[in-house]
Amino acid sequence: NKSLVSITDFSKEEILRIVELAAEFEANPNQKLMDDKVVSSLFFEPSTRTRLSFETAIQRLGGRIIGFTDSSSSSTSKGESLNDTIKMVSNYSDLIVMRHPLEGSARYASEVSDVPVINAGDGANQHPTQTLLDMYSIYKTQGTLDNLNIFLVGDLKYGRTVHSLLMAMSQFNPTFNFISPDSLKMPDEYKLFLDKKGIKYYEHLEFTDIIEEADILYMTRVQRERFSDPIEYEKVKNVYVLRNSMLDNTKDNLRILHPLPRVNEIHTDVDANPKAYYFEQAENGVYARMAIMASILGLK
Ligand code: CP
Repeated sequence: NKSLVSITDFSKEEILRIVELAAEFEANPNQKLMDDKVVSSLFFEPSTRTRLSFETAIQRLGGRIIGFTDSSSSSTSKGESLNDTIKMVSNYSDLIVMRHPLEGSARYASEVSDVPVINAGDGANQHPTQTLLDMYSIYKTQGTLDNLNIFLVGDLKYGRTVHSLLMAMSQFNPTFNFISPDSLKMPDEYKLFLDKKGIKYYEHLEFTDIIEEADILYMTRVQRERFSDPIEYEKVKNVYVLRNSMLDNTKDNLRILHPLPRVNEIHTDVDANPKAYYFEQAENGVYARMAIMASILGLK
Protein backbone atom coordinates (compact mmCIF):
# COMPACT_ATOMS: atom_id res chain seq x y z
CA ASN A 1 0.00 0.00 0.00
CA LYS A 2 1.15 3.55 -0.74
CA SER A 3 1.46 5.91 2.19
CA LEU A 4 2.25 9.63 2.17
CA VAL A 5 4.71 10.18 5.01
CA SER A 6 7.25 12.55 3.46
CA ILE A 7 6.70 14.67 0.40
CA THR A 8 9.60 12.73 -1.14
CA ASP A 9 7.24 9.71 -1.27
CA PHE A 10 5.63 11.45 -4.27
CA SER A 11 7.53 11.93 -7.53
CA LYS A 12 7.39 15.18 -9.48
CA GLU A 13 4.85 13.55 -11.81
CA GLU A 14 2.71 12.47 -8.84
CA ILE A 15 2.82 16.01 -7.39
CA LEU A 16 1.70 17.44 -10.73
CA ARG A 17 -1.05 14.83 -10.90
CA ILE A 18 -2.33 15.92 -7.45
CA VAL A 19 -2.36 19.56 -8.60
CA GLU A 20 -4.35 18.54 -11.69
CA LEU A 21 -6.78 16.39 -9.66
CA ALA A 22 -7.27 19.14 -7.06
CA ALA A 23 -8.40 21.47 -9.85
CA GLU A 24 -10.78 18.77 -11.06
CA PHE A 25 -12.26 18.36 -7.56
CA GLU A 26 -12.55 22.11 -7.10
CA ALA A 27 -14.58 22.29 -10.32
CA ASN A 28 -16.72 19.31 -9.28
CA PRO A 29 -16.46 18.76 -5.50
CA ASN A 30 -19.28 16.26 -4.98
CA GLN A 31 -18.04 12.96 -6.39
CA LYS A 32 -19.03 9.95 -4.29
CA LEU A 33 -15.88 7.95 -4.94
CA MET A 34 -15.37 6.88 -1.32
CA ASP A 35 -18.86 5.63 -0.47
CA ASP A 36 -17.50 2.22 0.56
CA LYS A 37 -14.50 3.63 2.47
CA VAL A 38 -13.90 4.30 6.16
CA VAL A 39 -11.09 6.68 7.12
CA SER A 40 -9.48 6.79 10.57
CA SER A 41 -8.66 10.33 11.59
CA LEU A 42 -6.17 10.13 14.47
CA PHE A 43 -5.14 13.52 15.83
CA PHE A 44 -2.73 13.18 18.74
CA GLU A 45 -2.00 16.92 18.44
CA PRO A 46 -4.38 19.89 17.95
CA SER A 47 -5.52 20.98 14.50
CA THR A 48 -8.20 23.13 12.92
CA ARG A 49 -7.55 23.25 9.17
CA THR A 50 -5.91 19.89 8.53
CA ARG A 51 -8.49 17.89 10.45
CA LEU A 52 -11.54 19.80 9.26
CA SER A 53 -10.43 19.98 5.63
CA PHE A 54 -9.75 16.21 5.65
CA GLU A 55 -13.20 15.67 7.18
CA THR A 56 -14.78 17.93 4.56
CA ALA A 57 -12.91 16.12 1.80
CA ILE A 58 -14.04 12.71 3.12
CA GLN A 59 -17.68 13.89 3.39
CA ARG A 60 -17.62 15.37 -0.10
CA LEU A 61 -16.28 12.08 -1.46
CA GLY A 62 -19.04 10.14 0.33
CA GLY A 63 -16.72 8.36 2.79
CA ARG A 64 -17.12 7.82 6.53
CA ILE A 65 -14.83 8.86 9.37
CA ILE A 66 -13.88 7.36 12.71
CA GLY A 67 -11.24 8.64 15.07
CA PHE A 68 -10.33 11.02 17.85
CA THR A 69 -9.37 14.66 18.05
CA ASP A 70 -6.93 14.48 20.93
CA SER A 71 -5.00 11.68 22.53
CA SER A 72 -6.61 12.25 25.96
CA SER A 73 -9.86 10.77 24.61
CA SER A 74 -8.10 7.65 23.31
CA SER A 75 -6.46 4.75 25.14
CA THR A 76 -3.09 6.43 24.51
CA SER A 77 -3.88 8.24 27.77
CA LYS A 78 -3.87 4.81 29.50
CA GLY A 79 -0.44 4.00 28.07
CA GLU A 80 -1.34 2.15 24.86
CA SER A 81 1.53 2.21 22.37
CA LEU A 82 1.37 3.75 18.90
CA ASN A 83 2.14 0.29 17.50
CA ASP A 84 -0.95 -1.25 19.10
CA THR A 85 -3.21 1.69 18.23
CA ILE A 86 -2.23 1.62 14.56
CA LYS A 87 -2.35 -2.19 14.20
CA MET A 88 -5.87 -2.23 15.53
CA VAL A 89 -7.17 0.84 13.72
CA SER A 90 -5.81 -0.42 10.42
CA ASN A 91 -8.24 -3.34 10.79
CA TYR A 92 -11.12 -0.90 11.19
CA SER A 93 -10.53 1.30 8.18
CA ASP A 94 -9.25 1.68 4.62
CA LEU A 95 -6.97 4.65 5.27
CA ILE A 96 -5.38 6.35 8.28
CA VAL A 97 -4.81 10.10 8.56
CA MET A 98 -2.54 10.82 11.51
CA ARG A 99 -1.07 13.86 13.24
CA HIS A 100 1.40 13.18 16.02
CA PRO A 101 3.88 15.30 17.99
CA LEU A 102 6.83 12.94 17.48
CA GLU A 103 9.11 13.23 14.44
CA GLY A 104 9.18 9.88 12.63
CA SER A 105 5.87 8.68 14.11
CA ALA A 106 4.12 8.71 10.72
CA ARG A 107 6.87 6.61 9.12
CA TYR A 108 6.62 4.17 12.00
CA ALA A 109 2.83 4.01 11.68
CA SER A 110 3.09 3.35 7.94
CA GLU A 111 5.40 0.40 8.66
CA VAL A 112 3.01 -1.30 11.08
CA SER A 113 -0.24 -0.45 9.31
CA ASP A 114 -1.96 -2.74 6.80
CA VAL A 115 -3.61 0.28 5.13
CA PRO A 116 -2.05 3.50 3.76
CA VAL A 117 -1.09 6.19 6.26
CA ILE A 118 -1.24 9.89 5.44
CA ASN A 119 1.01 12.07 7.58
CA ALA A 120 -1.00 15.08 8.75
CA GLY A 121 2.10 16.50 10.50
CA ASP A 122 4.72 14.72 12.63
CA GLY A 123 6.30 17.09 15.13
CA ALA A 124 8.75 19.52 13.53
CA ASN A 125 9.48 17.08 10.71
CA GLN A 126 7.10 17.02 7.73
CA HIS A 127 3.61 18.12 6.68
CA PRO A 128 3.27 16.76 3.14
CA THR A 129 -0.45 17.33 2.62
CA GLN A 130 0.07 21.00 3.52
CA THR A 131 2.76 21.10 0.86
CA LEU A 132 0.48 19.68 -1.79
CA LEU A 133 -2.19 22.27 -1.01
CA ASP A 134 0.53 24.94 -1.00
CA MET A 135 1.69 23.78 -4.42
CA TYR A 136 -1.85 23.81 -5.72
CA SER A 137 -2.17 27.36 -4.36
CA ILE A 138 1.12 28.41 -5.97
CA TYR A 139 0.11 26.88 -9.29
CA LYS A 140 -3.31 28.56 -9.19
CA THR A 141 -1.88 31.99 -8.43
CA GLN A 142 1.27 31.93 -10.55
CA GLY A 143 0.11 29.75 -13.46
CA THR A 144 3.29 27.68 -13.06
CA LEU A 145 5.47 25.99 -10.44
CA ASP A 146 8.69 26.65 -12.36
CA ASN A 147 11.45 29.23 -11.73
CA LEU A 148 9.75 31.09 -8.86
CA ASN A 149 11.38 33.35 -6.29
CA ILE A 150 10.15 32.07 -2.95
CA PHE A 151 10.65 33.80 0.40
CA LEU A 152 10.25 31.61 3.49
CA VAL A 153 9.87 33.77 6.60
CA GLY A 154 9.84 33.05 10.33
CA ASP A 155 10.39 29.77 12.10
CA LEU A 156 12.38 27.77 9.58
CA LYS A 157 13.82 25.47 12.22
CA TYR A 158 10.64 23.95 13.65
CA GLY A 159 8.31 24.78 10.76
CA ARG A 160 7.43 21.43 9.21
CA THR A 161 5.47 23.11 6.42
CA VAL A 162 8.53 24.93 5.09
CA HIS A 163 10.62 21.75 5.28
CA SER A 164 8.19 19.82 3.09
CA LEU A 165 7.62 22.77 0.74
CA LEU A 166 11.35 23.24 0.18
CA MET A 167 11.79 19.59 -0.77
CA ALA A 168 8.87 19.57 -3.18
CA MET A 169 9.57 22.93 -4.82
CA SER A 170 13.23 21.99 -5.29
CA GLN A 171 12.06 19.97 -8.32
CA PHE A 172 10.90 23.15 -10.07
CA ASN A 173 14.09 25.25 -10.19
CA PRO A 174 13.16 27.85 -7.54
CA THR A 175 15.29 30.51 -5.88
CA PHE A 176 14.81 30.47 -2.12
CA ASN A 177 15.27 33.32 0.33
CA PHE A 178 15.30 32.22 3.96
CA ILE A 179 14.43 34.93 6.48
CA SER A 180 14.71 33.97 10.12
CA PRO A 181 16.44 34.92 13.33
CA ASP A 182 19.68 33.02 13.93
CA SER A 183 18.06 30.71 16.47
CA LEU A 184 15.38 29.59 13.98
CA LYS A 185 17.45 29.09 10.83
CA MET A 186 16.69 26.47 8.20
CA PRO A 187 18.35 23.24 9.45
CA ASP A 188 21.58 22.25 7.68
CA GLU A 189 20.07 19.01 6.37
CA TYR A 190 17.69 21.02 4.16
CA LYS A 191 20.44 23.39 3.00
CA LEU A 192 22.58 20.37 2.11
CA PHE A 193 19.61 18.98 0.19
CA LEU A 194 19.54 22.19 -1.91
CA ASP A 195 23.36 22.27 -2.26
CA LYS A 196 23.29 18.76 -3.72
CA LYS A 197 20.76 19.89 -6.32
CA GLY A 198 22.61 23.15 -7.08
CA ILE A 199 19.62 25.27 -6.05
CA LYS A 200 20.28 28.91 -5.09
CA TYR A 201 19.30 30.09 -1.64
CA TYR A 202 20.09 33.15 0.45
CA GLU A 203 19.79 33.72 4.17
CA HIS A 204 18.69 37.07 5.61
CA LEU A 205 17.82 38.44 9.02
CA GLU A 206 15.27 40.99 7.75
CA PHE A 207 12.88 41.09 4.82
CA THR A 208 11.49 44.62 4.79
CA ASP A 209 13.71 45.89 1.95
CA ILE A 210 14.09 42.78 -0.13
CA ILE A 211 10.63 41.45 -0.90
CA GLU A 212 10.21 43.49 -4.11
CA GLU A 213 11.36 40.53 -6.19
CA ALA A 214 9.27 37.88 -4.45
CA ASP A 215 6.66 35.77 -6.28
CA ILE A 216 5.65 33.92 -3.12
CA LEU A 217 6.02 35.27 0.42
CA TYR A 218 5.45 32.31 2.71
CA MET A 219 5.00 33.52 6.28
CA THR A 220 5.14 31.14 9.25
CA ARG A 221 4.32 31.25 12.93
CA VAL A 222 7.03 30.94 15.56
CA GLN A 223 6.02 27.61 17.09
CA ARG A 224 5.78 28.12 20.83
CA GLU A 225 4.92 24.46 21.43
CA ARG A 226 8.30 23.27 20.05
CA PHE A 227 10.46 25.39 22.40
CA SER A 228 11.84 23.66 25.49
CA ASP A 229 12.86 27.04 26.98
CA PRO A 230 10.03 29.67 27.19
CA ILE A 231 12.62 32.48 27.48
CA GLU A 232 13.98 31.57 24.04
CA TYR A 233 10.43 31.75 22.64
CA GLU A 234 9.86 35.20 24.19
CA LYS A 235 13.01 36.50 22.46
CA VAL A 236 11.76 35.69 18.96
CA LYS A 237 7.96 35.46 19.16
CA ASN A 238 7.18 38.75 17.35
CA VAL A 239 10.36 39.04 15.35
CA TYR A 240 8.60 39.48 11.98
CA VAL A 241 5.30 41.23 11.44
CA LEU A 242 4.10 41.81 7.88
CA ARG A 243 2.08 45.01 7.45
CA ASN A 244 0.14 46.25 4.48
CA SER A 245 2.43 49.27 3.99
CA MET A 246 5.35 46.89 3.35
CA LEU A 247 3.68 45.54 0.20
CA ASP A 248 3.59 48.81 -1.78
CA ASN A 249 6.56 48.05 -4.06
CA THR A 250 6.01 44.33 -4.47
CA LYS A 251 5.28 42.56 -7.75
CA ASP A 252 1.68 42.33 -9.00
CA ASN A 253 1.85 38.54 -9.04
CA LEU A 254 3.10 38.32 -5.44
CA ARG A 255 0.91 36.20 -3.23
CA ILE A 256 1.24 35.91 0.54
CA LEU A 257 0.82 32.41 1.85
CA HIS A 258 0.71 31.18 5.42
CA PRO A 259 -0.19 27.64 6.53
CA LEU A 260 -2.07 29.21 9.49
CA PRO A 261 -2.76 29.52 12.36
CA ARG A 262 -1.19 32.97 12.52
CA VAL A 263 -0.43 34.67 15.78
CA ASN A 264 0.95 38.19 15.07
CA GLU A 265 3.18 37.64 12.05
CA ILE A 266 0.66 38.98 9.51
CA HIS A 267 -1.11 42.12 10.67
CA THR A 268 -4.84 41.98 9.97
CA ASP A 269 -4.46 45.11 7.79
CA VAL A 270 -2.95 42.79 5.15
CA ASP A 271 -6.11 40.66 4.92
CA ALA A 272 -7.93 42.99 2.52
CA ASN A 273 -4.91 43.28 0.18
CA PRO A 274 -5.53 41.26 -3.03
CA LYS A 275 -2.05 39.77 -2.57
CA ALA A 276 -3.16 38.07 0.66
CA TYR A 277 -4.02 34.49 -0.23
CA TYR A 278 -3.91 32.53 3.05
CA PHE A 279 -7.64 32.00 3.50
CA GLU A 280 -8.07 30.80 -0.11
CA GLN A 281 -5.00 28.62 0.49
CA ALA A 282 -6.79 26.98 3.45
CA GLU A 283 -9.84 26.34 1.24
CA ASN A 284 -7.58 24.73 -1.36
CA GLY A 285 -6.74 22.19 1.34
CA VAL A 286 -10.11 20.52 0.83
CA TYR A 287 -9.52 19.95 -2.90
CA ALA A 288 -5.89 18.92 -2.47
CA ARG A 289 -6.85 16.40 0.22
CA MET A 290 -9.65 15.01 -1.93
CA ALA A 291 -7.03 14.52 -4.64
CA ILE A 292 -4.53 12.90 -2.25
CA MET A 293 -7.02 10.40 -0.84
CA ALA A 294 -8.51 9.54 -4.24
CA SER A 295 -5.04 8.99 -5.62
CA ILE A 296 -3.76 6.88 -2.72
CA LEU A 297 -6.90 4.74 -2.71
CA GLY A 298 -6.60 4.22 -6.48
CA LEU A 299 -9.96 5.89 -7.16
CA LYS A 300 -8.58 8.35 -9.72
N1 CP B 1 -1.90 24.45 8.58
C1 CP B 1 -2.21 23.59 9.57
O1 CP B 1 -1.64 22.50 9.69
O2 CP B 1 -3.17 24.04 10.42
P1 CP B 1 -3.79 23.21 11.62
O3 CP B 1 -2.67 23.00 12.64
O4 CP B 1 -4.92 24.03 12.15
O5 CP B 1 -4.23 21.88 11.06
